[in-house]
Amino acid sequence: MPARVLSGTRPTGKLHLGNLLGAIENFKKLQGEDSFFMIADWHALTTEYESHTEIGNLVMEVVTDYLASGLDPKKCTIFIQSEVPEHAELALLLSMITPLGWLQRNPTYKDQLQEIKGKDLNTHGFLGYPVLQAADILLYKAEKVPVGEDQLPHLELTREIARRFNHLYKKEVFPEPQAILTQTPRIPGLDGRKMSKSYDNCIYLSDSAETVTQKVKTMVTDPARKKREDKGHPDVCPVFFHHKLYNQAQVPTVAHECSEALRGCVECKMEMAVKLNEFLDPIRKRREEWLNKKSEIRKILDEGKTRARQVAAKTLAEAMQAAGIRN
Ligand code: TRP
Ligand code: SF4
Repeated sequence: MPARVLSGTRPTGKLHLGNLLGAIENFKKLQGEDSFFMIADWHALTTEYESHTEIGNLVMEVVTDYLASGLDPKKCTIFIQSEVPEHAELALLLSMITPLGWLQRNPTYKDQLQEIKGKDLNTHGFLGYPVLQAADILLYKAEKVPVGEDQLPHLELTREIARRFNHLYKKEVFPEPQAILTQTPRIPGLDGRKMSKSYDNCIYLSDSAETVTQKVKTMVTDPARKKREDKGHPDVCPVFFHHKLYNQAQVPTVAHECSEALRGCVECKMEMAVKLNEFLDPIRKRREEWLNKKSEIRKILDEGKTRARQVAAKTLAEAMQAAGIRN
């Protein structure tokens, strides 16, 4: 039997290179297996509850980005979290057995409370974010969960919740899921920090070739290389990191010419932008095609919902029985 796979993306913005190379590449690799990929719209609402009109539109953007990236609805199930009500129900059930301390100690909770300014995140929903995520994963009894490295604490909490549930109700209802990371969990953004929507340093899958070239021009380089004559250190340069992703054949040349001051940063960036655009072109093409097939996308999501509910309803009934509120 192929492993059960589940993952999800919060529809808080269009997908960027960090999403693609940090996680979605693995969705693609695993999609031949028994795989479910959702759009976590409830999770988006935990932080975006004040901008309620946006989430519905962004859901469609993310589905389009999924399809453009190469997810094939014939090989995997794509669905919207809130259209499968079992997610909310299992989350409620799991919330009964999850100790508050586990959630308050969750490192991503503490970080985000600090980092996200201008939003009131002192809510029940935001504290309970990992409980909902555990429900997402456990509803499908997923064994493999392809995610970015920032999600590792949530996977750990999911395993803890699964263990506690099985132990309390003396039944092995939930298997323990494993995170699956890509080779490149951290992609540098334009400013050299981790590429992230909240840093406004992203290259989006939907950016035009011109926009990508413009953005690459603004990318930071080796800060020690102030003048053209200064020898560079490719290993600290975000542009070089991107060369390694889309311009593998030239990596030794780039490294050599940079460290001997034989190439300037401007030409180096242009070479990288060309390769990056070659990499993004097929994604952009597929994106354009899907933009004209909105009703087909709705059909994919309807079928996805039906397939997901078949699995989810069964697990929910089993969990409610184990917990003793249903016979
Ligand atoms: N929290 C994840 C993120 O921000 C999104 C997510 C929601 C998810 N539910 C999930 C990921 C279940 C994996 C499995 O990226
Ligand atoms: Fe970075 Fe290229 Fe400039 Fe070297 S030459 S510092 S690799 S941009």
